Amino acid sequence: MFEKTILITGGAGFIGTNFVDYFSSQHPGVRIVDLDALTYAAHPQSFERQKTLANVVPVKGSICDGSLLRDLFDRYCISGVIHFAAESHVDNSIADPVRFVQTNVMGTAALLDVSYKFWEKRGLLDSARFHHISTDEVFGTLGTDGFFTENSPYAPTSPYSASKASADLLVRAYIKTFGMNATISHCSNNYGPWQHAEKFIPTVIGKCLAHEPIPLYGTGLNVRDWLWVEDHCRAVDLIFHQGKSGRNYVISAQHEKTNLDIARAICSIFDELCPWTGHCHQELISFVEDRPGHDFRYASNPERLKRELHWRALGNFYDALRQTVLWYLQEGRHTLNPANTKV
Ligand SMILES: NC(=O)c1ccc[n+]([C@@H]2O[C@H](COP(=O)([O-])OP(=O)(O)OC[C@H]3O[C@@H](n4cnc5c(N)ncnc54)[C@H](O)[C@@H]3O)[C@@H](O)[C@H]2O)c1
Repeated sequence: MFEKTILITGGAGFIGTNFVDYFSSQHPGVRIVDLDALTYAAHPQSFERQKTLANVVPVKGSICDGSLLRDLFDRYCISGVIHFAAESHVDNSIADPVRFVQTNVMGTAALLDVSYKFWEKRGLLDSARFHHISTDEVFGTLGTDGFFTENSPYAPTSPYSASKASADLLVRAYIKTFGMNATISHCSNNYGPWQHAEKFIPTVIGKCLAHEPIPLYGTGLNVRDWLWVEDHCRAVDLIFHQGKSGRNYVISAQHEKTNLDIARAICSIFDELCPWTGHCHQELISFVEDRPGHDFRYASNPERLKRELHWRALGNFYDALRQTVLWYLQEGRHTLNPANTKV
């Protein structure tokens, strides 16, 4: 018998897979319904493994499907939502912006509508929490100085970040208009096991493994702020349980690195773990035409999360990066597809 049931969306994707593992072991008395459409970005293996966990019910389906959502809320009496599901790759959003609006905006709208109506009807509006996973990209781009905070103005620059910003505004509207008990988190770039091969770090790892050129956009000097996925999972758990309704929280370990720094660091790890006779992996680094509208720098200050919820990033950047490479070498090799990836 479970004390309650929560809905996690997108739990077969990169962060969702890590989060379902984390949350299900931290809260064995809570049942998790993982709703995932199993798009190309999902890991079917992770979804299958969730079937063996005592407190996880993986369900294949879309957050855009209102009648499926209503059925799940009724069947499991859902009393909390942690919403990860999204189209998440900026390059894909440039190729097909409408798909991003459908999933990230319309899907979030459907989820908010069903959650609100279910909780309102059952008098659960105050106690049932809706946590929305946003991104630091909704704040746009920075120059060489400064940090994003919870009060930074919205200034998205890609169809991806515009769709995430739109979803955030819908969540804010439900808080203001309907008194929904909701929180939003803006995390920086995550790294760790189970990230899709199309993303930056797995791409570099795949290229090192295949001894193929590592194509860096532009000069490789764009800066990202890297967050160990386990630190992200702990932060979301804290915000979901202890965050103040109506509040947004920035999540960052303040590990700012250029793309070139990251590629070089992974190459050094490969030189140590998989020596390449007569070569060093940095020889593979190459530069390709920049992505249109490529944001120069993201960096966030997680002061609120530290002060109010006493969160600290625990992952040491280079140790966690090495652990990530080891995971891809030992368990995640099948998830890499160097031929189809770009940085
Ligand atoms: N990865 C990062 O560095 C990062 C940084 C900031 C914010 N985020 C946000 O975190 C969340 C998770 O990111 P990720 O990197 O794990 O993404 P991902 O692309 O790896 O996984 C997304 C998951 O959502 C599922 N999904 C897509 N459309 C769906 C739909 N209509 N219904 C149900 N499920 C659907 C996919 O099947 C997949 O399993 C996203 O909201 C993303 O915007 C990610």
